[in-house]
Amino acid sequence: MLASIRSAMGAIPRIARINIPQRLISTSMVSKSDKLFVHRNTEDNKPGIKFEFNADSMKKANEIIKRYPPQYKKAAMIPLLHLAQKQHGWVPIYVMDYVAKLLEVPPMRVYEVATFYTMFNREPVGKYFLQVCTTTPCELCGASGIVKAIEDHLKIKMGETTEDKLFTLVEVECAGACVNAPVMAINEDYYEDLTPETTIKLLEDLKAGKEIKAGPQSGRFTCEPAGGLTSLNTEPTGPGFMVRSDL
Ligand code: FES
Repeated sequence: MLASIRSAMGAIPRIARINIPQRLISTSMVSKSDKLFVHRNTEDNKPGIKFEFNADSMKKANEIIKRYPPQYKKAAMIPLLHLAQKQHGWVPIYVMDYVAKLLEVPPMRVYEVATFYTMFNREPVGKYFLQVCTTTPCELCGASGIVKAIEDHLKIKMGETTEDKLFTLVEVECAGACVNAPVMAINEDYYEDLTPETTIKLLEDLKAGKEIKAGPQSGRFTCEPAGGLTSLNTEPTGPGFMVRSDL
């Protein structure tokens, strides 16, 4: 058949082949992430493991659910997943199932949300979850040095947890505190204006069970200019300042 078509058309001109890397339509892109985004049942992460909110979380969950009309209570999904992560430390599939039951939605609705947002830890993390920002402003202020200091001090690499299960290190995109770069979140608080030395001090204090102070570690107050105040640095003037005396 092909031969008869060819003889009818005459010689088919050869098309110059350009060497472009090709991907079959049936193959997916190579994953550049170190995370497996599909769920695989494991001993500690499979449906059926018992989980429920403790009294405190349940009280908060009920308050959150009450903010929405009953037919829209699924709108409480993200806050409830956060609450679950706060209580449990991570969000395995049985926690997602519990949230789905509480909100009366199919479990798939919760899986979709929990697997989309990277803030939900789908693997266990250490007691102190270190999230170092490595986006441009932090990088320009030395974020790589902070990462190296942590890796060298804790003897772990990015994405790993220390053997004593105290620290997990991950890299995050802009934490929204660029004015105090470089920045690292430890659990729910930000530690800013970091240097390798202040970072290691924070880790040592945590390991020793000491309290650490959130915020800038350089001594400056919140995000005031790093070189000192340039305005609003005198006593405020009283009422009538610079107003004509006859008024
Ligand atoms: S770039 Fe690090 S907080 Fe914005």
